Amino acid sequence: MTYSISLVLAGIVAVYVGLRFLLILTQSKEEPPLLKTAIPFLEPIIGIIRERSLFYPRLRDKYNHDMYTLRLPFARIYVVNATQYIPILQKHWRTISFTPVLAGAGPGPMGMSSEAGEILHRDIMSDSNPVQAWSRAVTTALHPGEGLDRLNGRAVEVMQEMMHTLRPESQKGIPPADKERIIDFWAWTNHAIIQTTTDAVYGPGNPFKKRDFEDAWNYWTPHYLTFALAPFKSFLAAKALRTREFMVERWSEYFRAGWLEHASPFAQIMYNQQKSDGLSFDDLARAQVGHSHGIVATTGPTTWWLLYHIFSDPLVLSDLREELKPLVKVDDNTGESRIDLADIRTKCPILLSTFKEVMRYHSLGTQVRICLEDEVLNGRYLLKKGGIVMIPQLVQHTSVEAWGPDAAEFRYRRFLKGDFLIGDSGQKRKPNLTAFRAFGGGHTMCPGRHFSSTEIMAFAVLMVLQFDISPIEEGLHSPVALSKWPIPTWRNSPMVSSFQIPDHDFKVSVKPRDGTKWVMDFAKEKDGSGSGLEITAEDVKDN
Ligand code: HEM
Ligand SMILES: *[C@@H]1O[C@H](CO)[C@@H](O)[C@H](O)[C@H]1NC(C)=O
Ligand SMILES: *[C@@H]1O[C@H](CO)[C@@H](O)[C@H](O)[C@H]1NC(C)=O
Repeated sequence: MTYSISLVLAGIVAVYVGLRFLLILTQSKEEPPLLKTAIPFLEPIIGIIRERSLFYPRLRDKYNHDMYTLRLPFARIYVVNATQYIPILQKHWRTISFTPVLAGAGPGPMGMSSEAGEILHRDIMSDSNPVQAWSRAVTTALHPGEGLDRLNGRAVEVMQEMMHTLRPESQKGIPPADKERIIDFWAWTNHAIIQTTTDAVYGPGNPFKKRDFEDAWNYWTPHYLTFALAPFKSFLAAKALRTREFMVERWSEYFRAGWLEHASPFAQIMYNQQKSDGLSFDDLARAQVGHSHGIVATTGPTTWWLLYHIFSDPLVLSDLREELKPLVKVDDNTGESRIDLADIRTKCPILLSTFKEVMRYHSLGTQVRICLEDEVLNGRYLLKKGGIVMIPQLVQHTSVEAWGPDAAEFRYRRFLKGDFLIGDSGQKRKPNLTAFRAFGGGHTMCPGRHFSSTEIMAFAVLMVLQFDISPIEEGLHSPVALSKWPIPTWRNSPMVSSFQIPDHDFKVSVKPRDGTKWVMDFAKEKDGSGSGLEITAEDVKDN
């Protein structure tokens, strides 16, 4: 017994010494400094799994490198800390590339054919690469203009329908005195915005319309990473595999039935581009499961946190209602109250600032790039071919240097012009938008940012104008109002989630503020005059 234990121990020591040696031997001096891990290769894995997104801010606080290397078995990861490396990395977008990340998801976790894998990886550094052509096409389709206006127009219609179900007049058999409606705050919001987004993009035949598909999606996302990493998937990740195949089948049905004809130009361009690259019918359906991650996954939590911050803070709520008041027009003939979508985009600085602060404060995503060639950054660091570059948003979003001494606080007016943060020495200073990473940046910045920002802000406006919301607890006989809003925790957000997901749902009471019928106009949007929003550093000309 003792003998076998010491044998095992000796084995471990031998492996350990070997690994340390290997680590030092293969790490070159020109690379970003290697973190001194106690257990070579495994410690970063344990850290990433245990601490998830908090792993990188902790390493920053502990080591304070501008950039550093983490070594995993078969992989080197270069993690970016200092903001000034971000624009430099973005300039090298061809060689430090997002393309292999997107292309690799196809034949990997989406289960596409090996032919599709070859197509997606073809000429990976050139403009003619199918993934790059696809990115360019969808970026054009989502650019301010007619296509974007159609998306926003339909989104507003659908969200109005969703909100109508909250009004007492839509509830048969509810006495008018009992005018409140009780909902699960997170579940309802996420459902409503998923319906809004997917209907706008994919039209009336959209698979998310069926409850079993939305349930499948809600199962899939938190299990995605374990599924992607699991070997022997049909054995170790059987349910996730079945769920994916179920979604693929529904997408196939959607295309077979010709629903794409009734979808947005964006959805059509997305599909036709990939079809023209030679993807098979089955692979095209699989691609949509991947696209859903970009289109659907982040909108729900963003909308929810925005509503949470608005309704849980009376100051924010009253500020926003003040800001909206002059934009509301009451139609004397019909008694309807109307507000124009274009005004929400251009005349609501407090709303826009609150929205950006929600994104800064709650987003968790990481930009991941793969080095396709050896590259030297700014004459300083060597990044080796095959290395993975990571830009964790949380590191940038909690940077005191970029946001000031109150970086750790939620300040809804942070992004207001003229209300810049106070620096250490007491002078006013602008937040540095290069450190705002929620929509990414550079060549692969989120092309959906105009659509989703407008959609999410319109959603918040219609809720703010129509309803009062307060937290409640299910009492013995009837609901009991809570004196304080719960403070949501998000520790269990899935590792790949690019936004904080609340750990616990809670109930809220929703009461219409009056009997007015609310209408959102998008007349000014329809003629294609809609302009983009200033969200990221690239959008803001005077940054
Ligand atoms: C709040 C909601 C959203 C957030 C926070 C968000 C965030 C992001 C980020 C950070 C990236 C860049 C990834 C990287 O560079 O590594 C990205 C890419 C992308 N997003 Fe979004 N996104 C949102 C909504 C949307 C929506 C609604 C759409 C489509 C209508 C969309 C379409 C895309 C596409 C197509 C890409 C890939 C761009 C490329 O290939 O270069 N996003 N998004
Ligand atoms: C690491 O990043 C933080 C901001 O997150 C910054 O304040 C600090 O200066 C950086 N450290 C180095 C050595 O660049
Ligand atoms: C923002 O930060 C980047 C990177 O550190 C720097 O290059 C840029 O000059 C800064 N911009 C402002 C306005 O401070």
